[in-house]
Amino acid sequence: MVRPIQLDRRGVVRASAGALAMALAPAACARDAHAFDLRIGRDAGCSCCHAWSELMRQSGRFRVALIDEPDMAALKRRVGVPADLASCHTGVVEGYVVEGHVPAEDVLRLLSQRPARVRGLAVPGMPLGSPGMEQPDGAGDPYTVYAFETDGARSVFARHGAA
Ligand code: CU
Ligand code: CU
Repeated sequence: MVRPIQLDRRGVVRASAGALAMALAPAACARDAHAFDLRIGRDAGCSCCHAWSELMRQSGRFRVALIDEPDMAALKRRVGVPADLASCHTGVVEGYVVEGHVPAEDVLRLLSQRPARVRGLAVPGMPLGSPGMEQPDGAGDPYTVYAFETDGARSVFARHGAA
């Protein structure tokens, strides 16, 4: 074991990063270190929600809980989904809202960037070709992933599909 006093400036920086990683490790490794808990509320009669949740699970980055909600409108109000950005299912991960058929890659980018003020991501409606809405012939519409804030302000987070 190297004593800190022997380290040069660069070594000290490395040592503190290592110490930080060790301090964080026990909590992170308690379960899958790289998977986030994703809790998804959905209407029991809807099948596309299940298709989306399976894709999220298959990404290997989310531990998924799919929960039948008797009142989806109430859930969306409670977590702060802007009415005009609503879709079918509503997910919550790390305190962020994921509304509708948002690609896993976009949720992961949100979780790595954690932009200030953003409350969640939304793909309004049910665009054909979005994850969980794939068509047998591979057809799809271009769609936009919005990042929304608590006050309803939103910005374009990603665009997908042919323009
Ligand atoms: Cu859907
Ligand atoms: Cu659905």
